[in-house]
Amino acid sequence: MEMTYLPARQLYREWAATYDDPTNPLIEAEGKVLAGIIGDVEGKRVLDLGCGTGRHAILLARAGALVTGVDFSDEMLAVGRENAAGLDVTFINGELGAVPLQEPFDLVLCSLVLSHVPSLLPAMKEMSRLTRPGGRIIITDLRTDHWFRKTKKIRKFGSYLTDAYKHTLVDYQAAFEASSVNLEQLTKIYFDDAIVARRRWFFYLKYIAVGYAFEISKPAAS
Ligand SMILES: C[S@@+](CC[C@H](N)C(=O)[O-])C[C@H]1O[C@@H](n2cnc3c(N)ncnc32)[C@H](O)[C@@H]1O
Repeated sequence: MEMTYLPARQLYREWAATYDDPTNPLIEAEGKVLAGIIGDVEGKRVLDLGCGTGRHAILLARAGALVTGVDFSDEMLAVGRENAAGLDVTFINGELGAVPLQEPFDLVLCSLVLSHVPSLLPAMKEMSRLTRPGGRIIITDLRTDHWFRKTKKIRKFGSYLTDAYKHTLVDYQAAFEASSVNLEQLTKIYFDDAIVARRRWFFYLKYIAVGYAFEISKPAAS
């Protein structure tokens, strides 16, 4: 298959129409882990940063949350609006490092986005700013510290190529500290039996994590 390089925003413009096709095993594995850690969101204000087509925003709204989704791709947001028709989800165009919102949220989610940005800090500071004291942040992503040899690489996303960036656990911890939030739990994401059964070469990914899920707290005001 011929692969085309595009900067991330253009990539998602092209990918938006088929992003929801159920072919990506990382998305499936991440969804299962997130379902186990998200907790009760009934009546909670939730910000889904880098919400894409609303995969999580929709589940959260169905579970009773008041959800705002932010993404820099108008095309992903347009699909999200269609997917979420009739649900309590507001979709807004915005950059991870400069989110055009003020209100604090009970929960901020940033799912499978951060390998697109060269530095964690601008996004992390925004997540902290937008979380109420005592609130939670959940971040998931590909385990780039294991899978990337170099700090920056060209990675396959769907049928496109774009820049992707390695973030080590030390980088994450430094960004958490600089944003005055605390890591509470780190869960590794593996492919389970159902995913592994689909392709022979997936089998070792039962044993080597493909992603991380970070559960983070923002200290209550003293
Ligand atoms: C792999 S998709 C994940 C979408 C969704 N969170 C999910 O898990 O299905 C990454 C999303 O992040 C968005 N994104 C990437 N870089 C961004 C940035 N700097 N600011 C805002 N959104 C960004 C893309 O447009 C895309 O919708």
